[in-house]
Amino acid sequence: MILSIESSCDDSSIAITRLEDRAILFHKKISQDSAHSPHGGVVPELASRLHAVALPKILEECAPFFPHLKAIAVTNEPGLSVTLLEGVMMAKALALALHLPLIAVNHLKGHLYSLFLEQESRFPLDVLLVSGGHTMVLHARSFGEIEIIGQSMDDSFGESFDKVAKMLSLGYPGGPIVESYAKEGDASRFPLPLPLAGKKEVAFSFSGLKNAVRLAIQSLQNPPNEQEKRDICASFQATAIAHLIQKCRLYLATSNAPYLAIVGGASANLALREEMERLGERFGKKLLLAPLAYCSDNAAMIGRAALESYALGAFTPPLELTVRPRTPSLC
Ligand code: KG4
Ligand code: ZN
Repeated sequence: MILSIESSCDDSSIAITRLEDRAILFHKKISQDSAHSPHGGVVPELASRLHAVALPKILEECAPFFPHLKAIAVTNEPGLSVTLLEGVMMAKALALALHLPLIAVNHLKGHLYSLFLEQESRFPLDVLLVSGGHTMVLHARSFGEIEIIGQSMDDSFGESFDKVAKMLSLGYPGGPIVESYAKEGDASRFPLPLPLAGKKEVAFSFSGLKNAVRLAIQSLQNPPNEQEKRDICASFQATAIAHLIQKCRLYLATSNAPYLAIVGGASANLALREEMERLGERFGKKLLLAPLAYCSDNAAMIGRAALESYALGAFTPPLELTVRPRTPSLC
């Protein structure tokens, strides 16, 4: 079995995955949403201190599995340095104390492997990765061959939902709240500009859209009422999704991969899932999705990616493992 640890942002999570059949034998996650909500976003130092309490608590429950462990895996890149360190220090201590090999896992690769929990992987695959830290189009041929086709030039898709929620005083994380407000709103009420509409390259930008939402709120006579909040959320979400779809369409026209996928915390957005389903049908690609419960950060996806490293014997000496908050690639 592999014990995997995730602490790249504000979720403390540990999983146990069986090597022979990829079964998830244990998975637990303690989220910090309520602690960060008053701040409208993640406070790194606070997140780090909460990991220091939550991770050992979850680890205690894993003690019965210790005699069966063959490796320890941990997210070491990308993420918040002070929170990555919590998981990495725990993983190093476990690897040294239990005399087990250590596997470093890239968080984004973890999100990609959330598609393949308890099952075999399927390639080649075009992926839209949408999380709080990243917005990317990837082309994956295998575990070791993942190419970044395009990415955001500024903010991420998920982060822009968090910011819109903050502007409307709706709480954190903004994604699910904005999505539920959008369901009841009129998306044509506030016309917003489609980012990078005339550009032919696969790239994303959300800072202008965020600013347009800010201006729309300021243009109201009074602070927005509930219906205006719903309409702003609906207009914002429709534009943000239209932007993703327009850029994905550009790339998909050039790729002959049989599979298409959305991964990352924001891939839980049902309106986005519907649009991607339609896009997949149009290009004759089968849409792969992670189970809703494993779209946001979790250690099960880290364990699933670690199975591939284990098979390759790709280990890192514990004393050499470092965190890389900003990493340029997935391989
Ligand atoms: O992957 P994730 O859990 O953490 C990172 O690696 O960043 O993604 C969290 C992000 C947050 O910004 C959150 O607001 C967004 O995903 N998110 C959503 C939805 N659920 C979560 N964004 C849009 N719609 C959703 N339903
Ligand atoms: Zn993530």
